[in-house]
Amino acid sequence: MKLLHLDSSVLGPHSVSRQVSAAIVERLRQANPGLETMYRDVTATPLGHLTGLHLAAGQGAAPEPSVREDIATGQAVLDEFLAADIVVIGAPMYNFSVPSQLKAWIDRILVAGKTFRYGAQGVEGLAGGKRVIVAISRGGYYGPGTPMAALEHLETYLRSVFGFIGINNPEFISADGIQVGPEHREKAVAGALKAAADLHAA
Ligand SMILES: Cc1cc2nc3c(=O)[nH]c(=O)nc-3n(C[C@H](O)[C@H](O)[C@H](O)COP(=O)(O)O)c2cc1C
Repeated sequence: MKLLHLDSSVLGPHSVSRQVSAAIVERLRQANPGLETMYRDVTATPLGHLTGLHLAAGQGAAPEPSVREDIATGQAVLDEFLAADIVVIGAPMYNFSVPSQLKAWIDRILVAGKTFRYGAQGVEGLAGGKRVIVAISRGGYYGPGTPMAALEHLETYLRSVFGFIGINNPEFISADGIQVGPEHREKAVAGALKAAADLHAA
């Protein structure tokens, strides 16, 4: 079984989402000793933005030299996603949604003909069957009924992204209120680490 572990916080060792995503991977590793793990840090090695040259190459044009290497990296990113049975993502909230580095990764895995296609019935996801677990960290609170609820475009966005490609039940472990104060942070991190330790293995 293969697991892809991806982090997207720019805060390195101070990051909450990195701490929680690592705890999730550790839990799954203990439960599946034969687990093969791949790791991608999209802030240490950022992917470029898509350009017209990328799209032209996707439609069969010979890749321009300026984007050849980046296109090859994008292909490797897609291949490692497709190869994974489990995907664990550390996803902090930046300006109400995903970090742009994570968005750049999403732009490389939502690929027509590979992870989704349009057919007579509309869109069809082709990447179903993977288990996706996302460690979310947010500075404030965005739960139902809170004043900020309408600004939540992180978990809702990621649910849409994975649902679009056929992964309809992504799991989320959230650490919220990280910037509200030290007590809030401590409680949120402890709760998220407990949720990671309690994750079902299969
Ligand atoms: C550039 C930036 C933008 C942020 N935007 C938001 C935001 O829109 N809403 C929020 O609740 N917290 C926001 N925060 C706070 C982070 O979500 C919070 O600190 C979280 O713990 C970051 O995850 P990390 O610890 O894994 O880096 C922002 C932090 C940074 C660095």
